[in-house]
Amino acid sequence: MDVVAINGSPRKNGNTATLIRAILEGAASTGAQTTEAVIHDLDMKGCQGCFSCRKNHGICAQEDGLSPYLEAIKTCKAFVVGCPIYMYRISGQMKLFVDRAYSLYMPKPGGGYTPAVPAGKKFALVTSQGAPDPEQYHRSIRWLAGMAGTGFGMEEAGRIIHTNSNREPARENSELLKKARDIGMRLVG
Ligand SMILES: Cc1cc2nc3c(=O)[nH]c(=O)nc-3n(C[C@H](O)[C@H](O)[C@H](O)COP(=O)(O)O)c2cc1C
Repeated sequence: MDVVAINGSPRKNGNTATLIRAILEGAASTGAQTTEAVIHDLDMKGCQGCFSCRKNHGICAQEDGLSPYLEAIKTCKAFVVGCPIYMYRISGQMKLFVDRAYSLYMPKPGGGYTPAVPAGKKFALVTSQGAPDPEQYHRSIRWLAGMAGTGFGMEEAGRIIHTNSNREPARENSELLKKARDIGMRLVG
């Protein structure tokens, strides 16, 4: 799989889903193969805190619906992470994924982490929120981007911070959809 997307919204046709799919459409238009995992629909659990991944680097010992996607992140060309803001932070569904992604952070001798994901990949980020100020949740968004950037060692191809304070769904915002498709083309270009 060329592009793997992880969607932290439970709304199948919501804003996050719409924007992730526009990014995937852009990537597919260049011939890339894409897949999207909706965390809410996976038969998966959060991290069980077994610390097995501290010895078996890059491997999460918990086998469930998320396992194929954790593997695909290591072999894909590009990654998309998308999530709504829930109660000032990322959604609970996305936090389950982020904790499991600990298995993709290898401990460095002397402290800190180095990616268990091979170098040379790109990522894109989508968030959606009700509040009008795109900077309002910048700490949460920077932290989520940091998982893919610093944590997985990926280069950012672009991000979309969707604000729907005027109740404008992302699917009606042609400018934003175009921006998403352009990011998708850059992801694999
Ligand atoms: C449980 C819950 C909590 C929310 N908390 C916030 C919030 O703290 N700040 C905000 O701006 N929007 C908040 N929202 C609004 C969503 O972020 C917004 O509707 C977003 O567009 C949903 O994305 P989706 O369509 O991809 O699911 C919340 C929505 C829900 C359901």
